[in-house]
Amino acid sequence: MRVRVLHDYEALSLAAAEEVAETLRSRPDAVLLLPTGTTPLGMYRRLAEMHRRAGLSFARATFFNLDEYLGLPPDHVASYRAYMHRNFYSLVDADPRRIHCPNGAAPDPEAECERYEAEIRRCGGADLCVLGIGRNGHIGFNEPGAPFGSRTRIVRLAESTRRVNARDFEEGRVPEHAITVGMATIFESRRILLLASGASKARAVAAAIEGDISESVPASLLRRHPDAAFLLDGEAAAGLA
Ligand code: F6R
Repeated sequence: MRVRVLHDYEALSLAAAEEVAETLRSRPDAVLLLPTGTTPLGMYRRLAEMHRRAGLSFARATFFNLDEYLGLPPDHVASYRAYMHRNFYSLVDADPRRIHCPNGAAPDPEAECERYEAEIRRCGGADLCVLGIGRNGHIGFNEPGAPFGSRTRIVRLAESTRRVNARDFEEGRVPEHAITVGMATIFESRRILLLASGASKARAVAAAIEGDISESVPASLLRRHPDAAFLLDGEAAAGLA
């Protein structure tokens, strides 16, 4: 597992965008498994710039969201589908037929999880998975305790996660459940890039990189992966020995 410490958030975002661009240059039809949240916003901005200025094309790539809130209609402003369209897909030449996101409003959520997992498998799994990390070490919405063998499923969000994500909801009413791609599905990605920025992530990053590999710190699983990298800014790396 590689650890790269970048000077600041801008440098981190550029380095992450370059890794995605490199994947696409070597494999234009790459399958990407992608996060939402505040951390990857700079990376998406840089990728949109690379598309505009340097002609980087996403037209043949396939995209999967890592997660989605349960019970939110896809056009809800706080849905992760809406986030991805707003911050990325609408700014590049992504093919709508190759954009996938769990449907948080599906009438049968269990069946939706199975459908989504099967779709990832049908596409051959992810060539590159980009992750953020929660303050409690979660990846996707795999909260502490998520089995390393888990697949796409419905999860209950940790109270601490709901408190942080209240920023995205009017009156702070964050759904209690979400659909997330599972730990095993993430782990099977050919390459994994975890991004962490800011002091609020320092403890989780140190636990993931230097603590035990344990289901109580989901991100620690990445240390068993043959091609995983942590991209950190100085603040997020501050807890490392
Ligand atoms: C979101 C996701 C989450 C976030 C994590 C960090 O799709 O999968 O694991 O990456 O909660 O969120 P930010 O970047 O907002 O600190």
